[in-house]
Amino acid sequence: MSITRKTVLEPITTDNLAEAVRIAVRPDQERFVAPVVQSLAEAYTQPDVAWPRLVRDEGRPVAFVMGAFDPTSEIDFFRAGIWRLNVAAESQGQGYGRVAVEAVAEEARARGQQRITVLWVPGDAGPERFYLRLGFRPTGQVLEDQVVGELLL
Ligand SMILES: CC(C)(COP(=O)(O)OP(=O)(O)OC[C@H]1O[C@@H](n2cnc3c(N)ncnc32)[C@H](O)[C@@H]1OP(=O)(O)O)[C@@H](O)C(=O)NCCC(=O)NCCS
Repeated sequence: MSITRKTVLEPITTDNLAEAVRIAVRPDQERFVAPVVQSLAEAYTQPDVAWPRLVRDEGRPVAFVMGAFDPTSEIDFFRAGIWRLNVAAESQGQGYGRVAVEAVAEEARARGQQRITVLWVPGDAGPERFYLRLGFRPTGQVLEDQVVGELLL
């Protein structure tokens, strides 16, 4: 199935929580992203920063994305960006990752930000080529084992 105009992003509520936590990436991708349930626990502890959303297409849950907005952070790459992105294994390669990134970019623009950042772990099954394809460029910064990438809006 390909992406449709019925793709929507929903805040996480009691109605869609169970669907959100069932979003699972491929087993070989698990080391590149936290499970959705962990992201939602982190969102609970930082409600003013986290922007978690379920991506749904034609009613089907297809992805989870969590933006992070902390405009006064001393760390420049924590001010606006993608904190987590999990496209369901069966829904990958159909444009949903791109839609999720564009939604975070749109939210960042609405908040007056001029760039978004993301941190990725390098590796064959990782998201590096996806982010490069979408126009992200490494800033030269690294955090532990993660590369910092930025997309100018
Ligand atoms: C990485 C991930 C988010 C990509 O999502 P997706 O929905 O499969 O990607 P899309 O279909 O939106 O792809 C958008 C573009 O990126 C390209 N792309 C996606 N994954 C790619 C890869 N591994 N290598 C090269 N190009 C890739 C697509 O070909 C497409 O290009 P096009 O516009 O020219 O057709 C998804 O594979 C995923 O959830 N991975 C596991 C978790 C993860 O690593 N998350 C990121 C944590 S920072």
